[in-house]
Amino acid sequence: MLQASEAAEWRGKLMKSGGDPQMTAISRDIRGFRLFAGLINRDAQVAMVAALRGVVASAPLYQPVTPGGRQMSVRMTAAGRLGWVTDRRGYRYEPLHPSGVAWPAIPEEVMAVWRSVSGTERGPDCCLVNFYGADARMGLHQDRDEGDFSFPVVSISLGDEALFRMGGVEKAEGTESVWLKSGDVVVMGGAARLAFHGIDRVRHGSSTLLPQGGRINLTLRVVEGI
Ligand code: SIN
Ligand code: MN
Repeated sequence: MLQASEAAEWRGKLMKSGGDPQMTAISRDIRGFRLFAGLINRDAQVAMVAALRGVVASAPLYQPVTPGGRQMSVRMTAAGRLGWVTDRRGYRYEPLHPSGVAWPAIPEEVMAVWRSVSGTERGPDCCLVNFYGADARMGLHQDRDEGDFSFPVVSISLGDEALFRMGGVEKAEGTESVWLKSGDVVVMGGAARLAFHGIDRVRHGSSTLLPQGGRINLTLRVVEGI
């Protein structure tokens, strides 16, 4: 764990403005989803991508299938004690990558974001890593494979812009969309913890963060509230 002074220093490095420790000035609420636009500055994004290259080197990206047998358009891996996986056997958390190796540790740069915005002392168990190429998307869904919904989900966007759709806890409720940019962070907590959300499309090549284009989404979750 970082000391409070170190955490404050990290917050300073992460924030574009570098100033407001409460970060209220740069967050806005959309249907209970809290959006911290531009929370992670470019240098911190570059450092995060470098750390993620290490994650992918030991736990390679793979293209999973849904329990119904459809191949997902994103490529996926994870870091942390547990990784979220999907295959013909269902959606679940596993302690090992499909290749049999343990998931790597969640990079410190990513943990710093969690500490800044999650509002909890408890660390995340899982950092899901989704890579979106030009045609990747993510259908409207809820994050509901965890055993405890009292902790928020923290979602980090890196690279190309993506159209993020936000709904309510019922699928039939109306939705609202926002373009997420590199360095944006979304917190789904409280009533929005079980709200439907998804990615309709990505503007391939809209960011220079990744040399070949593409988008990375990191989703941090507590799996069991123990
Ligand atoms: C997800 O909710 O699984 C991904 C969201 C995103 O890519 O921003
Ligand atoms: Mn999700």
